[in-house]
Amino acid sequence: MIQTPFYLIDSASLKRNMAVIDRLREGSGAKALLALKCFATWPAFDYMRDHMDGTTSSSLYELRLGREKFGKETHAYSVAWPDHEIDEAVGYADKIIFNSVGQLQRFRDRTGGIARGLRLNPGLSTSGFDLADPARPFSRLGEWSAEKIEAVLPDISGVMIHYNCENADFDLFDRQLAEIEGRFGAILDRLDWVSLGGGIHFTGEGYPVDRLAARLKAFAAAHGVQVYLEPGEAAITRSATLEVTVLDLLDNGKQLAIVDSSVEAHMLDLLIYRQSAKVEPDAGDHSYMVCGKSCLAGDIFGEFRFAEPLKVGDRLSIADAAGYTMVKKNWFNGVKMPSIVIREPDGSLRVAREFGYGDYASSLG
Ligand SMILES: Cc1ncc(COP(=O)(O)O)c(C=O)c1O
Repeated sequence: MIQTPFYLIDSASLKRNMAVIDRLREGSGAKALLALKCFATWPAFDYMRDHMDGTTSSSLYELRLGREKFGKETHAYSVAWPDHEIDEAVGYADKIIFNSVGQLQRFRDRTGGIARGLRLNPGLSTSGFDLADPARPFSRLGEWSAEKIEAVLPDISGVMIHYNCENADFDLFDRQLAEIEGRFGAILDRLDWVSLGGGIHFTGEGYPVDRLAARLKAFAAAHGVQVYLEPGEAAITRSATLEVTVLDLLDNGKQLAIVDSSVEAHMLDLLIYRQSAKVEPDAGDHSYMVCGKSCLAGDIFGEFRFAEPLKVGDRLSIADAAGYTMVKKNWFNGVKMPSIVIREPDGSLRVAREFGYGDYASSLG
């Protein structure tokens, strides 16, 4: 028995998502780069590498991890590069994508050996949450002005446009892409490559993958560009759980179950975006609020239904725990960090990493 808490990555579920990525790549000619900001658990890369074209990054360390642990094509993006990182970044990257004209000009002479790009902010997005909306007022994420981008076209061969956010609506994607083509078509026509970023939920149930493939193929042909996608969540959705154990039960007007994990430390995005965790099947006569063990009053996974009353020692599985979880886990309260376990194709469980007191102490001094 593996000691909880642990993230359990299911290789068969990864394979399911990878099959969709393969279908999209084949149907569209687009390349798919894993967005490491979402998922960078490199022991699982062996199940992804043959189905994706490489990685994209948000920092020097992600970039290096992509180059060393995934290989293949490696894109380097960062909101801002410091002077002392740029030469090392160039050493790992196939393409470097600057967030601003200022950064492009500052580092133009030191990045001449690799392809250069710029982040274009189209001024629209699918995000309804301003914290995560790249098109929020005054957004620092990319250049908004076609004139400014046109002035530096001789120095770049492509642009990155990330504006989707868990967008499961193909028609919305189609309309917004047409809007971007309408406003920035003259720029797109003069480029070799365009990355449309991440945030397209094309591995979700019922998504019209073949329509997306046809749309991307038409976009590539219309502008004469190689299209890239940067899936994070779409690559790993529904491929991991967070396995926890019930430590205590309380009745404070509601039935409460406290588990050996913490939302704040192990699934932080749920708190940031004020979402509930998922427990499947979430059915039965017994309702519990499942809570974390940190000191934060609102450290709550959510309220779920169970077929039987919970007991101390019961194992619970928190669903959909791959994206933006392991990359954000932290040592708040010194809560034991979940191990990383992979369910291999033969059904066996492999412990890829355990964390202990030494990791906690060494993260602080
Ligand atoms: C530039 C860029 N590319 C790719 C992604 C991945 O997005 P997702 O995980 O929603 O697919 C993000 C997410 O913020 C991003 O900012």
